[in-house]
Amino acid sequence: MGQGSGKGKVILFGEHFVVYGLPAVAAGIAAETTAEVTRTDTPGWTIEDLRPETPGYKVEKAEEQKASTDRVIRHLGLDLAKRGVHIKLGGNLVAASGIGASAANCVALARALNAEFQLDLTADQINEAAYEGEKGYHGTPSGIDNTASTFGGLIWYVRNPAGGVPVFEKLKLKKQVGLVIGSTGLTASTKKVVDDVAVKKSSDPRWFDSIAEEYKDLVREARESLLRIDLKKTGQLMNKNQEMLRSLTVSCPELETLIQEALRNGALGAKLTGTGRGGLMISLVPDKRTTEQVAGALQKAGAAAVWKTTFGQ
Ligand code: MEV
Repeated sequence: MGQGSGKGKVILFGEHFVVYGLPAVAAGIAAETTAEVTRTDTPGWTIEDLRPETPGYKVEKAEEQKASTDRVIRHLGLDLAKRGVHIKLGGNLVAASGIGASAANCVALARALNAEFQLDLTADQINEAAYEGEKGYHGTPSGIDNTASTFGGLIWYVRNPAGGVPVFEKLKLKKQVGLVIGSTGLTASTKKVVDDVAVKKSSDPRWFDSIAEEYKDLVREARESLLRIDLKKTGQLMNKNQEMLRSLTVSCPELETLIQEALRNGALGAKLTGTGRGGLMISLVPDKRTTEQVAGALQKAGAAAVWKTTFGQ
């Protein structure tokens, strides 16, 4: 049996902008998806998906997961025509929009196949296989999710829109920083939301370019403020990034309620994370007391789930 795992992630700055080659910052979280691969005497592959989930997530993503699994197997050049494999997914990462569940699925699968078929792949090659798998989930992924899921930690990521190798850099902070994550319980289609942004961009390129210019300055400031552990400034920049995401129309009332609630209860900044139009929001918290205060407030405000985590080292 071959085993592998892939980490969950949150995007701190730059979802959607990253698709167009602008830098983004993502943080791996401790929760992960695991995969076990065993050989069978029948051709093809079967899957047993035991991941915990936001209700409805796995059914909604079943077709995409199938396309993604086929892509990873094809990319790795595995011939399952005579003897196939059974794939078992598990782990403690809750499969939900915004947490990098699809990328963690792809990375865990690539690692488990690598182990079972003794492919001797490097981490970069696992990342490439997972990127292929991500295409099954959402067409034209930027690659940030699979990179964060493969390598973990805090990353600065710049896609090469021409299709070349992306640039990514690990950032290390002097101390861990607290986040409270709230789930709307809604599953979003990344493909649809990314496509909608593309339509908006092409219908008014000057409007998009002016927001993108503003975002470019913002993300550089965010990188500096994170490295200085200037949480007040980082929080303000998260709020500003959220305003930009609102104008791209990727927020929704359920996200806004949780964001406002977090800010009212002491979060230094709050924004949606990942695709938007459902999924998750993140809030930056300066200390343990605020972490508890914000987590309680999100729960009272109707969050489908609340997680407390840290990032930075
Ligand atoms: C999804 O987690 C992040 C998006 O920017 C899409 C992508 O980067 O591929 C919305």
